[in-house]
Amino acid sequence: MRERIIIANWKMNGTLESARAWIEAYRTLPAAANCRAVLCAPFVYLPEIVERLRGTPLEVGAQDVNENPSGAYTGEISAGMLADIGVSWCIVGHSERRRYYGDTDNRVAMKALAAAKAGIRPIVCVGETLEERERGETQTVILRQLNAVLAVMMPASIGAVAYEPVWAIGTGHVADPETAQAVHASIRRRIELVDQARAMTLPILYGGSVTPDNAAGLFAMPDIDGALVGGASLKATSFFAIGQA
Ligand code: G3P
Repeated sequence: MRERIIIANWKMNGTLESARAWIEAYRTLPAAANCRAVLCAPFVYLPEIVERLRGTPLEVGAQDVNENPSGAYTGEISAGMLADIGVSWCIVGHSERRRYYGDTDNRVAMKALAAAKAGIRPIVCVGETLEERERGETQTVILRQLNAVLAVMMPASIGAVAYEPVWAIGTGHVADPETAQAVHASIRRRIELVDQARAMTLPILYGGSVTPDNAAGLFAMPDIDGALVGGASLKATSFFAIGQA
């Protein structure tokens, strides 16, 4: 039985004050039963968040990372720098990084590899656009994105895979559980071809308009092991409620 994992992706939202308030609110909540929780905050707040959460079950992640160990990459952050401050997870390949900043499948793969080499668990995001889904290309897109990562690293080094249909992100149009389950099952089958044991333990998370109201239906699916949550994670109580759904 895989443990449930929920991951908060604050994206470029919040202030230092709201981050502190979120942490204080989350710390007052009961220990999340049978659910692992990760907070992926903006880089700038990570050092203080790591310190404030030290000794609590809530783990800390980053929202992106550069694929190089060091060098002339102005404004970028390396996996080693994240590891230095105690970050243990990192989102790579989020559709917003692919769309706005040109992250290719290969670059996402190299980012995942860099994170894993630094001892950080990469959360590999895959997902199709509405146009790709309407053209019947969902499986092709998902497997293309996943294969790029599997070409450079073993599944054992992947922390989690997150299926985030682009058409569900920030839209309020959550995928119905059966639609999401079909994609999750195909991801698990693809991992099985490389490492059967890891395929059974690899968390495959769903992301895209997850709320406390729709989470239980998603988590009832056999291959949906948790959620990558955007908007609903900005409130500690909502994020916690999703974990308990
Ligand atoms: O990474 C999670 C995010 O893309 C989902 O966003 O606001 O639809 O939960 P949201």
